Amino acid sequence: MTSDGTPGTAEPHEGIPPTGHGAALSIDTSVAHVARVYDYWLGGKDNFAADRRAGEQAIQAYPDIVYSVRANRAFLARTVRYLAKDAGIRQFLDIGTGIPTANNTHEVAQSATPGSNVVYVDNDPVVLTHARALLVSDERGRTNYIDADLRDTGRILAEAALTLDFSQPVAIMLMAILQHIDETEDPYAIVDSLLAAVPPGSYLAISHPAADIETEAMAQMAERLNKLMAEKVTFRTRPQVARFFDGLELVEPGMVRVQTWRPASEIEAKSPAALWGGVGRKP
Ligand SMILES: C[S@@+](CC[C@H](N)C(=O)[O-])C[C@H]1O[C@@H](n2cnc3c(N)ncnc32)[C@H](O)[C@@H]1O
Repeated sequence: MTSDGTPGTAEPHEGIPPTGHGAALSIDTSVAHVARVYDYWLGGKDNFAADRRAGEQAIQAYPDIVYSVRANRAFLARTVRYLAKDAGIRQFLDIGTGIPTANNTHEVAQSATPGSNVVYVDNDPVVLTHARALLVSDERGRTNYIDADLRDTGRILAEAALTLDFSQPVAIMLMAILQHIDETEDPYAIVDSLLAAVPPGSYLAISHPAADIETEAMAQMAERLNKLMAEKVTFRTRPQVARFFDGLELVEPGMVRVQTWRPASEIEAKSPAALWGGVGRKP
């Protein structure tokens, strides 16, 4: 991984450093996995030949994917900063952590508002090997990591309750993960069960690859990834993504392309990115 997210500057390597979780981990390097493909697009080095092959196939279909993932990371940082600074949120449940890169949720939240507590959740063993780097609990706040699948909301909520106080508002972060839950697995019910566990004044933040922006290129990319990657993808239209916010009050500017959600600069707003994103408040 690079610390600044610069494209293509890191030398790929095939070794994951031992972390102490090591013995029980089984990392399948023969098939591409989304956490590692995403790391490749971000210019990181925690990826293997199969991940790079899938990543390159996707780039050929939709070259702007490398800008899209950076715009997604920038959106994540802006939403966390908004939630910590403007919305007064002190607790974050970030599901689909990804391999650590620049501006991880706990870093943004705890630098915006010391005392913020963050629980990360992911089901990828490579992310787990990096969990220690995420588990920086100090005077700036507590950080914890759960090795679990988004589909297992009961377990996520039970384990998160060891760190977070569910009687107080929580921001649920689902950044670029819901595309891995297809319609047969009812992603709307999964999101509803998470929202049911948090009190009014809590927030939901989502980014989601679009099926109705750069339609042809995105469809091509999805087709290629679904042939090569372990986690299948279902890209969604704006109304399909908006449905995740049913019953919530959308924060201005609503559900928009991620690069246009409160951009920090003109340049940021103009970045090519085919993802829908928004932040909603539970009334
Ligand atoms: C595209 S990355 C996004 C990372 C980060 N949220 C971001 O927006 O920069 C998706 C992450 O979700 C994780 N993931 C995918 N499906 C999952 C599931 N069913 N349960 C838990 N994590 C999952 C992957 O391992 C990967 O780390």
